[in-house]
Amino acid sequence: MRSISKIVQSTPPSGIRRFFDIVSTMEDVLSLGVGEPDFDTPWCIREACIYSLERGHTHYTSNYGMLELRRAISESLYKREGLWYDPEKQLLITVGVSEGMDIAMRAVLNPGDEVIIPEPCFVSYQPCVLFAGGKPVPISTCEENGFIVRPEQIRDAVTANTKAILLGYPANPTGAVAPRDILEEIVNIACKFDLFIISDEIYGRLTYEGKHISIPTLPGAYERTILLDGFSKAYAMTGWRIGFAAGPAEVVEAMMKIHQYTIMCAPTMSQFAAIEAIRNADRECEEMVEQYNQRRRVIVKGLNDIGLPCLMPKGAFYVFPSIKRTGLSSDEFCERLLFEEKVAVVPGNAFGKCGEGYIRCSYATSLDKINQALERIARFVSRL
Ligand SMILES: Cc1ncc(COP(=O)(O)O)c(C=O)c1O
Repeated sequence: MRSISKIVQSTPPSGIRRFFDIVSTMEDVLSLGVGEPDFDTPWCIREACIYSLERGHTHYTSNYGMLELRRAISESLYKREGLWYDPEKQLLITVGVSEGMDIAMRAVLNPGDEVIIPEPCFVSYQPCVLFAGGKPVPISTCEENGFIVRPEQIRDAVTANTKAILLGYPANPTGAVAPRDILEEIVNIACKFDLFIISDEIYGRLTYEGKHISIPTLPGAYERTILLDGFSKAYAMTGWRIGFAAGPAEVVEAMMKIHQYTIMCAPTMSQFAAIEAIRNADRECEEMVEQYNQRRRVIVKGLNDIGLPCLMPKGAFYVFPSIKRTGLSSDEFCERLLFEEKVAVVPGNAFGKCGEGYIRCSYATSLDKINQALERIARFVSRL
């Protein structure tokens, strides 16, 4: 009989998309909603792409991605983190972390395998597990713990069917960064029960306090971690659709098998751009991070002054204030704020049940717009 797959049917559409379909029909909306840099891609990166097209580099690349790009990534991971990945066997160029997440799940999961996922988290984590035939096991975190998972929560969630732990620090939507001792304990649990760790480090470069801790650098983690990273956030390259996966050779080979049959290779022009980004755009990246850092302080102070308590995020470009005092649900708050004051933010429950009572505001937008949005939010809250 003609019908859509049950798994696909039963997966709800992304809460962010639903909301932004409404936003797109309205005019003059100030958006703190989207999770992408407001900066255009640095010029040197765009130029490298244009030059590659001028030279006629318009063909498929190796399924793994251009060796030159894999070498550049390998060198960069070694320089930044002291991590060594063989560019020939342990690195795969993907269509963003989005594809990396999908094929990582499909490469390691058998039907019914469980993946432990601390929430609130990025909207695609659970669907990727489901589409791969796995079972997501969400774990709630709370504001009192800085939205950081406690290792004992993970230990309690492990069953005979657990296959992997999915971590995403710095976190979307909370900006939380887990400290080293907690990460080490989580890695110990993964070692004890022989689990994979899938680590989404797309916001690693956007760490404001101290240095980013990359999971595979922790004792015992390297041989069981699939590291996913990309160019979208750090280099303002969301539209280029380019990222990479690094991990044990047999896992990367399995991921490559799926990638080979379904994607073939990441866009060639984006790979040329990524080589330039990784080799020559550190300064531009640091300048953008400095801008986010300034905006972070302004928005956190502004929201706390309004009476929407909000932790200082340590990474990414989101704040996750509580709206519990207003008595409104996350959905009600966001819809009324949008219709009454034309400010778009995302309901916290889009990122998991424990996100109810919170909203996600992105500060990847200009200070001027952040200040205007804060004025409007203050007016809205004072009327409640
Ligand atoms: C935590 C997280 N992971 C992955 C992605 C997807 O990144 P990419 O553009 O590399 O597919 C996003 C995008 O918002 C994200 O926030």
